Amino acid sequence: MTQFQIAVIVGSLRRDSINRKLASALAKIAPSEFFFKQLEIGDLPLYNQDDDPNPPAPAKRLKGEIMAASGLLFVTPEYNRSIPGVLKNAIDHASRPWVQNAWAGKPAGVLGASDGANGTALAQQHLRNILAHVDAPTLCQPEAFIQIEDGFFDEAGNISSERTREFLKAWMDRYIAWVKLHAAPF
Ligand code: FNR
Repeated sequence: MTQFQIAVIVGSLRRDSINRKLASALAKIAPSEFFFKQLEIGDLPLYNQDDDPNPPAPAKRLKGEIMAASGLLFVTPEYNRSIPGVLKNAIDHASRPWVQNAWAGKPAGVLGASDGANGTALAQQHLRNILAHVDAPTLCQPEAFIQIEDGFFDEAGNISSERTREFLKAWMDRYIAWVKLHAAPF
């Protein structure tokens, strides 16, 4: 069976991140031919263009993981109406040197969770702008702006509400089709 490896980039380093939990719950509603791996971005130093001739080891690892992936899944919080600095730092690292931009051509999906009512809408819009520049074709619709309230996840980390689960399953179906359209399978 054809397999698809998805590189998951969570925009939060917080131990109990709701976005990390959401990314893990999403992986469970995907078809079995899709494998999701959450990438480490917390050990990346701040990007410095001086290091382009000899990038730090965590940046080389990140680029390798992205290049090996069939697709990208971004699950991010909103920080002060944009994306967190750790996420932008990771995107900058893997985009350089520009002729070796690891994001180019990788089909991407974007979603995010917040405890606020806007559900990361502004952060996602900023992220889409960045992904367009780094040449990652990004699923447009459906958009998913998730507000997390108490009881959103059950004890096993699944999404409690059947309605929300159905919505995210529909999102996942479109994402799967998007990846298959663009990706080289393994
Ligand atoms: C936030 N939070 C937040 N929420 C939001 O909806 N819009 C925003 O602009 C911000 N800004 C913001 C800035 C900073 C520095 C922090 C720490 C938090 C709240 C945020 O949604 C909440 O803390 C989430 O739980 C963060 O996601 P993780 O870390 O749980 O995945």
